[in-house]
Amino acid sequence: MIETRSVRKTYRVGEQEIRAVDGIDLSIGAGEFLSIVGPSGSGKTTLLHLLGCLDAPTSGQVLIDGTDTSTLTPTELTRLRRERIGFVFQEFNLLPVLDAAENVELPLRYMKVHPAERRRRALEALEQVGLADRARNRPSQLSGGEQQRVAIARALVTRPSLVLADEPTGELDTRNTCLVIELMRDLNRETGQTFCIVTHDPLVASYTRRVITLRDGRIASDLPGEEAELACEGRPEV
Ligand SMILES: Nc1ncnc2c1ncn2[C@@H]1O[C@H](COP(=O)(O)OP(=O)(O)OP(=O)(O)O)[C@@H](O)[C@H]1O
Ligand SMILES: [Mg+2]
Repeated sequence: MIETRSVRKTYRVGEQEIRAVDGIDLSIGAGEFLSIVGPSGSGKTTLLHLLGCLDAPTSGQVLIDGTDTSTLTPTELTRLRRERIGFVFQEFNLLPVLDAAENVELPLRYMKVHPAERRRRALEALEQVGLADRARNRPSQLSGGEQQRVAIARALVTRPSLVLADEPTGELDTRNTCLVIELMRDLNRETGQTFCIVTHDPLVASYTRRVITLRDGRIASDLPGEEAELACEGRPEV
């Protein structure tokens, strides 16, 4: 479903040229559950942004379902991103003045979905992440783990075929990390959505089916993951 061909991203800072992503050929199929690991500065975030068409490559191509994304107009690209890709970030990026349901509704607002339909789908997504009873809470009235689950609901509300997550558990404790990964894994199994998770945490990577390791902007290894069984302690009733 997504493919890169010799994709490169270089940054110029003064005299220096930084090769953040330095020629990556990668193919990710529909329904995969994979992680991207590697030392700090190895290009993980840059690669994820290229995959999600948040950034254009310096050279090379990113193909989504066979379409070379460089041939799309900015409007077409925005549309593809909004409708097909969900993003989850380390810092949640929830709007503090909106409650959980309103935050989850946002992407549908951009897509001009009718308000009643928007609300219905937002509540459904919140239910999927086990937070149906927190719809009226603002982010400051939620725990870190709950905020990240709201962010996941927001990424899922458009029913994207691809979910890209950058350190989604970076700010969470072990138990909430477990819950968030379990949620992603269950969704992957139930809906066949593709998940691509950037992480520093070897434990998180151990739960995935494929582990891609980056080093200096290149793929150092691409191996089957352990697919370890999750056992979250004190799992709340969902
Ligand atoms: N906008 C930018 N301008 C210049 N250099 C950049 C920019 N963004 C990233 N870089 C550089 O590109 C390289 C890859 O950065 P990237 O953020 O992709 O790494 P990362 O693997 O995600 O690291 P971390 O684990 O710390 O998040 C780094 O050397 C970084 O300093
Ligand atoms: Mg990063």
